[in-house]
Amino acid sequence: MTATPEICDILVLGGGGREHALCWKLRQSPRTGRLVCAPGNAGIAAVAECVDLAIADPAAVAAYAAEQGFGLVVVGPEGPLVAGVVDALRAAGIAVFGPTAAAAQLEGSKGFTKDLCRKAGIPTAGYRRFASGADAHHYVAVHPLPVVIKADGLAAGKGVTVAESNEEGLAALADIPGAVVVEECLSGPEASLFVITDGTTVQVWPSAQDYKRAFDDDSGPNTGGMGVISPAPRLTEALLQRALAEIVMPTLAAMAAAGTPYTGVLYAGLMLTEQGPKLIEYNCRFGDPEAQALLMRLESDLTELLLACAQGRLAEITPRWSGESAVTIVYAAMGYPRTAITGTVIDGIDDAEALGVTVFHAGTARAASGKLVAAGGRVLALSALGHDIGEARSLAYAAIRKIRWHGGFYRRDIGKA
Ligand code: AMP
Ligand code: GLY
Repeated sequence: MTATPEICDILVLGGGGREHALCWKLRQSPRTGRLVCAPGNAGIAAVAECVDLAIADPAAVAAYAAEQGFGLVVVGPEGPLVAGVVDALRAAGIAVFGPTAAAAQLEGSKGFTKDLCRKAGIPTAGYRRFASGADAHHYVAVHPLPVVIKADGLAAGKGVTVAESNEEGLAALADIPGAVVVEECLSGPEASLFVITDGTTVQVWPSAQDYKRAFDDDSGPNTGGMGVISPAPRLTEALLQRALAEIVMPTLAAMAAAGTPYTGVLYAGLMLTEQGPKLIEYNCRFGDPEAQALLMRLESDLTELLLACAQGRLAEITPRWSGESAVTIVYAAMGYPRTAITGTVIDGIDDAEALGVTVFHAGTARAASGKLVAAGGRVLALSALGHDIGEARSLAYAAIRKIRWHGGFYRRDIGKA
């Protein structure tokens, strides 16, 4: 048995709003010693040391973590996970929160996940896999509508088209360079379910509902997420238990049986259909901006929790969650999700926070003048708590109006009843 260190130095990989929320919460722990984030951003710099590191290069990450003596590495984005950063860190004897490359296939290959679901009888949309867009051409040309076209591999939230015509489906196919999955179209409200696991113990986290389209009333292009509410109002306790029993637990059992047990956070995107919850997709990491809402509700020590999970001791910890609801609004740069306009000056964050919200930075930087400027597509995420979604929503919108920024836009309907 290795003794648990009192103080733990932590390396966080990533530099978005999700990683700001992780660093913000890790910093609150008396167990956290040195906190380093690669690459971080201007907001993260207030709570952690930001460094340059090739975060998708497993050997580089493991060498840096070993040399610096980190007691825990927390991986934010999917890229480093699919590339095998967790495998390299474990081989170097460093505790890490996240799945191995083999387990991260649940996000890294949609075809892998669909085949696993079929084998294990997990409810999901019917599908066929093709090695290339060209191979799928005839199938898509005659498929009943709407038809769903997906890139098999990682596509940064841009790999899915729900096509209303066969021509639109064929156009989507032409844009996908590699393997393709073609799916039946499901309908119903969506909800996201999160569990963390050390490979043995499974801990259910609060649910969330995200807003994927750029503009109000779910119009405009798909984005990485423009806002979140937690808990997801449509995911009742009964549906949640059903999704766990029919989808998440059989997936974890199948991964363990294949000799590739899943560890870290598993994020299940669900469609609540008339036949019950069905899996849309898995993510092998926290959502962004879902983490900015969920972590607001965590009352326990995140360092203890993630360290216990990374060391296979998750059974020792029962986290406390606030009974309050959370609403997170993303403030994005004009032009997002296409070409975001960057370099514009942002003011008023202190005024927003004075109302009691937390402002997480996603794409921000410090200009030479010292001013805070937009440096990405999604720039800020404001998170508020309230007795219910309505109260949290009022607070979040009151706060976002305090921010003085001419280069951004946000949805007005996050959490609207
Ligand atoms: P993304 O986050 O880019 O993977 O977007 C996935 C979104 O596409 C989901 O949130 C759904 O709204 C939609 N989607 C994916 N698969 C299906 C499906 N089989 N039927 C209907 N909608 C789907
Ligand atoms: N907000 C969606 C995601 O993180 O995948």
